[in-house]
Amino acid sequence: MKILCISASNNFRDGLSETSSFIICQRIIDKVKKKTPQADCAILELKEYILTPCVNCIKCLDNSRCVINDAFNEIYEKILGYDVLFIVSPHYAPIPSKLCMLMEKMESIWFNPWLKDNTYQPEIVGIPTGVISHGGTGREGGLREYERIVNYPIANWLFTIPKPYENTRQLKLVGFNDDWKYGINVPPVKDFEEWSVSQISMFEDYIAKVIILTAS
Ligand SMILES: Cc1cc2nc3c(=O)[nH]c(=O)nc-3n(C[C@H](O)[C@H](O)[C@H](O)COP(=O)(O)O)c2cc1C
Repeated sequence: MKILCISASNNFRDGLSETSSFIICQRIIDKVKKKTPQADCAILELKEYILTPCVNCIKCLDNSRCVINDAFNEIYEKILGYDVLFIVSPHYAPIPSKLCMLMEKMESIWFNPWLKDNTYQPEIVGIPTGVISHGGTGREGGLREYERIVNYPIANWLFTIPKPYENTRQLKLVGFNDDWKYGINVPPVKDFEEWSVSQISMFEDYIAKVIILTAS
């Protein structure tokens, strides 16, 4: 099983060795490895890539790749090599711009070829994807706000296609339960020791749910 964790942070603050998003990705991998030591896990840090916005040139029409941004193509090829994905995103009023650029381009490279040929399906269709948001606060109200501001735009990107086609064009969002349909959020990692038992189990159960979905 191959698991890719995308850290959406673009945090280059002086003195910071690891971003919170990266640390959460590491925690995901620790949990996976504990249960499945042979799992092949990697972290992709968006901050390391020079992404550019989609300019709607429509030149992806012919080969479903971006003709102006090799960094995007590199990320996309990497995603294709994995069975399951986690997107870990901080609240950046609303979400980090590199994640937006990734979403814009992933949208364009299926939509434009599909306009030409309505039977077209991109290669990433159906890859189970967990979404984990976080931000500056661990208060209950804050966590719900991150769901609205961070998880929902990501879920909305995955659901822009009307039924019954919504699972035939993009990654497949894995919800946690009826209450948390768009993934989960976690309190700040600096407060890890103060995470409640229910917050820890939500994190662990969600990872297990995304992975099990992949295995089935
Ligand atoms: C541009 C920007 C806007 C932010 N806006 C918010 C905000 O509105 N609410 C909040 O709780 N945290 C906000 N934060 C704080 C980050 O969510 C928080 O520091 C997070 O831990 C950073 O994660 P990272 O190290 O993975 O980048 C913002 C951070 C940045 C850089």
